[in-house]
Amino acid sequence: MRLLTLALAALFVGNLPAACLAQSVSPKAMQPAAPPNAYIRTGKMFDSKTGTYTDGAVLVIAGERIQSVEPAGFAIPAGARTVDLRGSYVFPGLIDCHVHLMHRADQYEEIKYFKETPFTDAINGVVNAKRTLDAGFTTVRDVSSPPFAAVDLRDSIRSGFIPGPRIVASGPGISITGGHGDLNDFSPEVRPMLYPADRNFQIADGVDQVQQTVRAQVKYGVDVIKIMASGGVLSKGDQPGAPQYTLAELTMAADTAHQAGRKIAAHAHGALSIKWAIEAGIDSVEHASLADDEDIRLAKEHGTFFVMDIYDDDYILNEAPKVGLPQEQIVKERSVGQAQRDTFRRAWKAGVKMAFGTDAGVYPHGDNAKQFHYMVQYGMTPAEAVQAATVHAAELLGRSADVGELTPGHYADIIAVASDPLEHVEALEHVAFVMKGGVVDKDERAR
Ligand code: ARG
Repeated sequence: MRLLTLALAALFVGNLPAACLAQSVSPKAMQPAAPPNAYIRTGKMFDSKTGTYTDGAVLVIAGERIQSVEPAGFAIPAGARTVDLRGSYVFPGLIDCHVHLMHRADQYEEIKYFKETPFTDAINGVVNAKRTLDAGFTTVRDVSSPPFAAVDLRDSIRSGFIPGPRIVASGPGISITGGHGDLNDFSPEVRPMLYPADRNFQIADGVDQVQQTVRAQVKYGVDVIKIMASGGVLSKGDQPGAPQYTLAELTMAADTAHQAGRKIAAHAHGALSIKWAIEAGIDSVEHASLADDEDIRLAKEHGTFFVMDIYDDDYILNEAPKVGLPQEQIVKERSVGQAQRDTFRRAWKAGVKMAFGTDAGVYPHGDNAKQFHYMVQYGMTPAEAVQAATVHAAELLGRSADVGELTPGHYADIIAVASDPLEHVEALEHVAFVMKGGVVDKDERAR
């Protein structure tokens, strides 16, 4: 019936402008016919495939995508909507593969789980999504939130109801009993009512429960699975270096996710957990702090991505203690922070695939680009660091056809900065112009 209505509608609206059509017919179906609705003149435009600039290109936007890229000197039709970015450095919208949009970095007291309802998390998500987009991050992967806040946030943004980045959404992170995702060290009499653990996580023990949990998350609409393979820093009663899930459990998680066409990310700090995650067929190892040479060799061999949040250490040691971070966790951070940065250097030098991911929410959303500084300090060129946050991130997300490049067919997700990030990568901390899907989110360029 719906199809029939659309077909009839299509018969009657033959001559209406694209904007009207887009209301009744899916954007995909419209795409080939949409006429250009904006032209963007660029000065230096970053080619994320080669890591170099193209001079003076003109981006032709039709609907929410780039229709063509024309050379300098291209004659824009008179009267057409034009954005002049010739004075700026133009990049594809950035991608952060590890964020927690529902978290706030100014609240580290565990007691909040006994005072606030999960609605608070949803409210946080709305605010943090806008901050993230304004910072030039037009796509993010959210890797663990209360069920199923990231899925709902994704859909509210996608439908145009609220502003925010494109979200590749996981459900709650999957954790063992007593693991990184559990609420440890309370009396057994203390138990939140709705969720038996920290509400950003779901507990599953043993191969069968892991299989069932992954399947259930797929049922509720996640794009990606997140599993906590090792202990962590920002949890009580566990150690980052110690394995939590077994190889058999991780293998079941990866197989079940892949069977459902989903990718899977594993939180793993310790060397043995990283090895098991790679052997299990996990797509990305998050943190990877204490990876040893064998892990690095295996990651290369399997094409496993490392997503290393090497800015966090600054915030956790300097700011988080002021807002309630317990001493136990400060001590754990000291045991992985510098080690992780050194591992980053070794892994990159050895040729491990890297995608940009920051653990935003540990530090305030919107500061995502502060990590670029450390990626360059620990071995990447600025161009390589930007590639990690564009083409390589898109590859990890399985979204290479949509994001990470300013080439025909990709979303018109475009950012501009005033000074050259290939000279000083910190320029990306001050994004002046953001367009997502052909719509300007912010334009704060100096006149
Ligand atoms: N979510 C991570 C954990 O709790 C954060 C680790 C942050 N520290 C770091 N050096 N990257 O384990």
